[in-house]
Amino acid sequence: MDLLLELLLLATSWIHVLLAPYTKVEESFNLHAVHDVLMYGVGHEALLNYDHFIFPGAVPRTFIGGLSLAWSSYPAILVAQKLGCVRDKSDLQIIVRLVLATANAMILCLIRRALSRRFGGPTSRFYVLLTCTQFHLPFWMGRTLPNMFALIPVNLALYFCVNRGPTSLRPSQRNFDRALALLVFTAAVFRSEVVLLLGPLALQALFYNYTTFGRLFKVGVLSGTASAAATILTDSYFWQRWPLWPELYGVYFNVIEGKSAEWGVSPFHTYFTACLPKLLLSSLPLSILGFLLDSRVREPMLPALAFVLLISSLGHKEWRFVVYVVPVFNIAAAKGASWLSSRRKSTVFGRLCFLVVIGLLCCNGFVTYMLTAASMHNYPGGEALSTFNNLYVAQENVHVHISNLASQTGASLFLHTHAPPYLPGLEVADASAAHNWTYNKTEHLSPKALSATSEVTHLIAEMDTFAVEAVESFDRWSLNTGLRGIVKQGLMDSIDALLHPLRMVKSEKLVILERKGA
Ligand SMILES: *[C@@H]1O[C@H](CO)[C@@H](O)[C@H](O)[C@H]1NC(C)=O
Repeated sequence: MDLLLELLLLATSWIHVLLAPYTKVEESFNLHAVHDVLMYGVGHEALLNYDHFIFPGAVPRTFIGGLSLAWSSYPAILVAQKLGCVRDKSDLQIIVRLVLATANAMILCLIRRALSRRFGGPTSRFYVLLTCTQFHLPFWMGRTLPNMFALIPVNLALYFCVNRGPTSLRPSQRNFDRALALLVFTAAVFRSEVVLLLGPLALQALFYNYTTFGRLFKVGVLSGTASAAATILTDSYFWQRWPLWPELYGVYFNVIEGKSAEWGVSPFHTYFTACLPKLLLSSLPLSILGFLLDSRVREPMLPALAFVLLISSLGHKEWRFVVYVVPVFNIAAAKGASWLSSRRKSTVFGRLCFLVVIGLLCCNGFVTYMLTAASMHNYPGGEALSTFNNLYVAQENVHVHISNLASQTGASLFLHTHAPPYLPGLEVADASAAHNWTYNKTEHLSPKALSATSEVTHLIAEMDTFAVEAVESFDRWSLNTGLRGIVKQGLMDSIDALLHPLRMVKSEKLVILERKGA
């Protein structure tokens, strides 16, 4: 039973990867880092080919996540290849994302085991059910956002804090040291905002005697120094800038220079009134119940709440900055749900409570279904490039220019399937896929300039550029974002219609253009 639930958690994260295989611009730094490490290796000359020198982004980011993911994906790629599951490079992107999803799912399963020990079986099971029926965490778990790398050590730290007997008052000294070291590492390497979680946790630890000040200081300094050394050595090398500590630079750039405000400022209460409800769905009311019921729930919740309060003081807000508290809220919610469902079934109140829990889980499921269906069609760039690759597979000498919108919505390097680099040792099952095409992502080129240069044979362009004169020299294929839906026929369509209580409104976003006479 419990093993089945753990498999359900893993399956949920995998299904989201398979349903929405393409990626967006926020994920692309790490995704392309993985691509480059896999394809070129990490040698000094290999660095010249790396994507981040062409598209560096606003601030440098760490390579530690991409490097670890690339190396840990390699065995999985070899196995998939032996099984004949790798047709071309785009399959590697899916494998890499599945590996990340698996890592995150495994830590969530560890937390489930700790909960089973501390709160009992029912709470641990509701924990899994609540997590699986939410949308954001399972959907993003397999996406290469820096926050999803950070989530692994943060959740592991949560596991170390919670993994103890039902009546134990504090985590063992060793487990607390581990949790602390992991959070320091995360803050130094992946996401500096984790410092705001670390601070309240350290205060709580001192107040309740989990540790002494001397030991806290020692573990913090040791882990901090080691993490700083790791990120400085790794990232100075990959960025060819000495010395570089990306997270520290990010803090300087975003907080001290106030650059993050340029991305938009939200009011103080946004996390509480918009982000958390969206992330937690029906875990939110249940978590309030759990919080009131059990002091063992309040213990991890207090630093999590303090974290959200503290980070609310930064003007620029995004849901992913607070994603780390979702597992903590889910613990509280699971406790609330198991309390409700364990009321005596012989009374009306008891049966009502049970129905409320079932109803809340169904609500989660419904919202997640709607959001998943919408998100699947939210990657026109990926759909367009993959259609393009199939459309012209028989053709050599293709030079396609990919618009900014397409690059940002799924046209990742892994989708350059008909151009080098090919993974060393990877035998492409479909030999016709191995061409020498040029995928051109040069930015700020007007349609006119593009049609004037003779080398570009095709465009993947934005819909609103369609009305310009340049188009005259190109034939046009328009691409609906919901292309998949068109490909499915007959029976599938009718099932589709039945399953969609609301019709999704789609619009054409991208067009594929071919030069006349090419
Ligand atoms: C991409 O296209 C532009 C405009 O035609 C051209 O100047 C540039 O050299 C091309 N880049 C590559 C890598 O071929």
